[in-house]
Amino acid sequence: MKLFDVYPLYDVTPVSAKGIVVTDDKGQEYLDFYGGHAVISIGHSHPHYIKRLKDQLDKIGFYSNSVKNPLQEELADKLGRLSSCEDYNLFLCNSGAEANENALKMASFHTGKSRVIAFNNSFHGRTSAAVAATDNPKINAPINKQQKVTFLPFNDSDALEREIKKEDVCAVILEAVQGVGGLDQPSTAFYQLIEKLCKKHEVILIADEVQSGFGRTGKFFGFQHHGITPDIISIAKGMGNGFPVGGILIHEDIKASYGLLGTTFGGNHLACAATMAVLEVLEKERLIANAKHLEGYFRGLAAEIPQIKKVKGRGLMIGLEFDFEVADLRKRLIHNQYLFTGGAKDKYVLRVLPALNITERDLDSFFEGLKAELNGTP
Ligand SMILES: Cc1ncc(COP(=O)(O)O)c(C=O)c1O
Repeated sequence: MKLFDVYPLYDVTPVSAKGIVVTDDKGQEYLDFYGGHAVISIGHSHPHYIKRLKDQLDKIGFYSNSVKNPLQEELADKLGRLSSCEDYNLFLCNSGAEANENALKMASFHTGKSRVIAFNNSFHGRTSAAVAATDNPKINAPINKQQKVTFLPFNDSDALEREIKKEDVCAVILEAVQGVGGLDQPSTAFYQLIEKLCKKHEVILIADEVQSGFGRTGKFFGFQHHGITPDIISIAKGMGNGFPVGGILIHEDIKASYGLLGTTFGGNHLACAATMAVLEVLEKERLIANAKHLEGYFRGLAAEIPQIKKVKGRGLMIGLEFDFEVADLRKRLIHNQYLFTGGAKDKYVLRVLPALNITERDLDSFFEGLKAELNGTP
């Protein structure tokens, strides 16, 4: 059997990784400024993470959600405290798309309505309702196009008000900082208007923190830069540092009932252990503060490079805009400078999404490699 060929691959085969360094099958070391799509939050093979997972595996790796699993409560408690979201309840699942799928489903259950408002250039995943709320017709099959979704531009208050007033909207979903789209973010005033209109018209506000959550933007959640309270928050990616885990935080105003949501694998013992390890390291090593600090350092270094037109994003969810398409530059950064970076739907934006425990020295190395490549020196 062959693999279903849906991924264009770089010719690199990583076989081990530690911290920010990824080593391939030929012994070549790369610096990872992409974290495998913003997933590696506390660094590859963090010793505490390995220990937590190994210890858990020695006890019990999995049982279904038909029996008690105290690790889930421990996790909900710690996540609530560290994120300052203690008045939410936690539902655990396995990925970002699944988190958003459940968030949209809850919004529809709760309001009895079905139209969704999403934003231009959004990315929310590849499953049914999540992909329909993703602004990319190419990844929406006819079956997904049955969903009712209206896409609006960021910061268009009139359009938002006009659509919400139709009283058929169950949810507004948005990323605090757009990931795949290319690091755009709405204004605080627009965020607050969304919150106000959602409350007034009984619409659920979903903050998709799948990529921006778990400290990446310099606060635990990206929406916390804007002083608002979403009804549902979706999480995944950095949450498990590579272990597939996702979830939604549901405000306690929204009531649960048996059977409303469910999953076989979600919240299993290993997923909980991985997420607990991430939270413990984020707290102990003060990584959210580090992400915030390094944004300033990053912007300082970027300002010295004339080819960079704009720095976008927040914390260590950050991007560099050029006046040329960056696909070729990314390839050259991998093969000549041994640096992993990310692209975006906006082809002019190079995304940088490293683990939150990198150092100023790591950013120096990144900019040295970038400068060498931009100036054509080996
Ligand atoms: C903001 C956002 N939401 C949802 C998803 C989907 O997550 P997953 O690939 O885990 O399904 C992504 C993935 O890139 C994302 O960036």
